[in-house]
Amino acid sequence: MPICMVVGNWKMNKSVAQTQTLAAEIVDKVSGVNPYGHVRVVVCPPFVALTTAQAALKGSLLSLGAQNLHYKADGAFTGEVSASMLAKICRYVIIGHSERRTLFGETDADVNLKLKAALDARLKPIVCIGEDSEQRGAGDAEAVVEAQLSAALDDVEFSANMVVAYEPVWAIGTGQSSTPEAAQAMMAHIRETLASIYGAYLSTQVPLLYGGSVNAANTAEYIRQADIDGVLVGSASLDAGTFADIVAAAKG
Ligand code: PGA
Repeated sequence: MPICMVVGNWKMNKSVAQTQTLAAEIVDKVSGVNPYGHVRVVVCPPFVALTTAQAALKGSLLSLGAQNLHYKADGAFTGEVSASMLAKICRYVIIGHSERRTLFGETDADVNLKLKAALDARLKPIVCIGEDSEQRGAGDAEAVVEAQLSAALDDVEFSANMVVAYEPVWAIGTGQSSTPEAAQAMMAHIRETLASIYGAYLSTQVPLLYGGSVNAANTAEYIRQADIDGVLVGSASLDAGTFADIVAAAKG
């Protein structure tokens, strides 16, 4: 896999004014450690701060992403934002984050429709999958992740724009990150699942990100794994210095 990615998911944090400050600091610090853009860096602020972040990122090598979308193109969907609306502002969109699934009832079928809408709008979707602690305890982690991925990709043609993020639910926001070895084992299974759908070569063209309590100290170990092409970072992406340290660690 030729690229390495670091994606910051700000979740429901930072006002518009705070976004202006944080995005400018991130551009400054990340450009310092990654001047040629060897690591592809994406920041995903809340919807209302996207255009502010867009202005702050202008002229830098950093990319902008959203955290969700609605799969319909337009219409009576109060409170929702469509793929084509986002595509005018940003390049990436996170889809099917476990918080969307558990707190907002998003289903595998929704994730599939959102993925299709994102690809149609030429966005780069970051599709999130991952098992919870109960499923892991029952020995079902691989089957759960495979089922989520297969459902997300149902009737979806391969696209070079697709990114997959493996985020075990028990590792998100808990400080209990997966061991790099366990994350790699799951990534290898995800790669195999992709190969069974798209063939061996194309499966290597989908960047696979690990997410769940990623920090500056554990990033390098994840990146060293054969099937991990980057990291999806939550809380540690809210501090410019820490985020830049993660980018530096990913660059190696
Ligand atoms: P965390 O969140 O890094 O705070 O664990 C990761 C995520 O939810 O994407």
